[in-house]
Amino acid sequence: MIRFIPSTSSRILEEAYGKGARECFSEDRTLKLVFSKKKAFDLVELQQLLESVGWSRRPIRKVRRALDNSLLTIGLWRDDPRFPRLIGFGRCTGDGVLEATVWDVAVSPLYQGSGLGRQLMLYILASLREEGIKRVTLFADPGVVSFYENQGWILEPKGKKCAFWYSN
Ligand SMILES: CC(C)(COP(=O)(O)OP(=O)(O)OC[C@H]1O[C@@H](n2cnc3c(N)ncnc32)[C@H](O)[C@@H]1OP(=O)(O)O)[C@@H](O)C(=O)NCCC(=O)NCCS
Repeated sequence: MIRFIPSTSSRILEEAYGKGARECFSEDRTLKLVFSKKKAFDLVELQQLLESVGWSRRPIRKVRRALDNSLLTIGLWRDDPRFPRLIGFGRCTGDGVLEATVWDVAVSPLYQGSGLGRQLMLYILASLREEGIKRVTLFADPGVVSFYENQGWILEPKGKKCAFWYSN
């Protein structure tokens, strides 16, 4: 049996950011960026990140419940021993076994365009795969569809597979 033994640096990362934390490649070598699915969020900081990409503010208590009820919540952190900053986010809901849906994928505008969004999606999918989940869906805004398509996501045949119902 082959066992994965974390290297010293990944052990240090996991001490600070929780089990499964991984360094994210950054073109700027002065920046250390880390993915974590365990590090707790400051909800005000999370709101600020989501507002910075143009999304409207949601009540904090609802956001807290949504995170609590999510299958997976992933932060991309700019590492700092005293004050790590949240620069990316994504979360998944689902049954924990068969299906998951990805929501709220965002990278701070200050850090966009250097491959972080793509790496964030890879980390999300790898984390779901670790749980044995192989069917993943998401709903993309029209302007972002190609971001996912270029990463191998398959678009639903227009109007044939998807149904929505919105409560007023
Ligand atoms: C979408 C988002 C997460 C991408 O993050 P990013 O760090 O800028 O993405 P990357 O730098 O990893 O880009 C990867 C590729 O996708 C392309 N891309 C980036 N943003 C895109 C967008 N909005 N639409 C289409 N393609 C996009 C890049 O040009 C790049 O292409 P390349 O591989 O040919 O160079 C980020 O722009 C964002 O937070 N947007 C606002 C929130 C949002 O719309 N989220 C998606 C919810 S459906």
